[in-house]
Amino acid sequence: MARINDHYQKLRAGYLFPEIGRRVREFAAAHPDAKIIRMGIGDVTEPLAPAITAAMHAAVDELATRETFRGYGPEQGYDFLLDPIREHDYRARGIELARDEIFVSDGSKCDSGNIQELFDAGATMAVTDPVYPVYVDSNVMAGRTGAVGPDGRYPGLVYLPTTPANQFSPTPPEQAIDVVYLCSPNNPTGAVMTREALTRWVAWARARGAVIVFDAAYEAYISDPALPRSIYEIDGARECAVEMRSFSKRAGFTGVRCAFLVVPKELMGKTAAGESVSINAMWARRHTTKFNGASYVVQRGAAAVYTPDGLAQTGAQIAFYMENARLLREGLAAAGFTVHGGVHAPYLWLETPGGAPSWDFFDRLLRDAHLVGTPGAGFGPAGEGFFRLSAFNSRANVEEAISRIHRVFA
Ligand code: MLT
Repeated sequence: MARINDHYQKLRAGYLFPEIGRRVREFAAAHPDAKIIRMGIGDVTEPLAPAITAAMHAAVDELATRETFRGYGPEQGYDFLLDPIREHDYRARGIELARDEIFVSDGSKCDSGNIQELFDAGATMAVTDPVYPVYVDSNVMAGRTGAVGPDGRYPGLVYLPTTPANQFSPTPPEQAIDVVYLCSPNNPTGAVMTREALTRWVAWARARGAVIVFDAAYEAYISDPALPRSIYEIDGARECAVEMRSFSKRAGFTGVRCAFLVVPKELMGKTAAGESVSINAMWARRHTTKFNGASYVVQRGAAAVYTPDGLAQTGAQIAFYMENARLLREGLAAAGFTVHGGVHAPYLWLETPGGAPSWDFFDRLLRDAHLVGTPGAGFGPAGEGFFRLSAFNSRANVEEAISRIHRVFA
């Protein structure tokens, strides 16, 4: 038998969302008449915007004739997508990016799992707690941790608790860190980092030579124009940060798959011998070796997001989900819950009644209200006592969910 990567044995049983799916399937099998409303995984429910599907249909037609057929594309992405990204997402906010600082991919989940490959096996990685599980698990797989401890944490990782005590805004640690993952607007807490908080992190990273992996997958949900949408709005961030963006939540691409990673040319790491090396050049090498580019049809669809119709139609979808978030926030508060998030993010982070263990609350909500959410403990030990609800759903389901919550808890 082939010798395996033993580090996989350290992973907790299953990835969070498949475990939720398993429990829901079991419940549904035992209660076939239950009308289950799913607010667990943050998966969009609105169909693709017409501007996007029109562009994708046209792209399919191009591939159907010899004259306009295309095979392999540029691994980093087509200029027809890179240029509107540069213009709308960055130049409009005073940020200049070169085309070869943007790497189009098939999703931020992959980018956030892959980025750790660029760093030494002994590098010290910091994550917030609670956290998007991919940041943790990809480092466990890479062998940067010991076996999970009784406190639910992996020795070897540095955890930065984000709780009501610090307004869900982590503070830079004193100890030496090579890489820190920050997500704003945050999955799962729904908190958003202010310009001041981000400025402190950038100053810290530059002073320490640390790299910030900034996950901005939910930036389109920021409703206050004064809040930063990109880490590059902060002076000096080009020297210390990569940024992930995604079309998943911004344009309904969870099934279509398209995202991008920004790696500025100023960002450097160092070799064992102490020489400076370009992280951009390393990522370009990795990307072109392991990835052949997102599909042409998908990139045409993503480029259509930036057309006037695409911007208006996807903007309306985001407004629709954020109205769901408002209804949920107010409905939950009226039922007596303490609720965080849901203002600049499609996630609500509620405190479980009486601090009940979050998996117990999950089971109760499923049993008594036929509602599915995500237990906070699934995002890390500091998520215990919290529960995440996603605002991605139909209006009818959101209204029904609120009335069930009132029936069970109010
Ligand atoms: C979530 O529910 O946390 C997200 O949908 C997961 C993801 O984006 O991979």
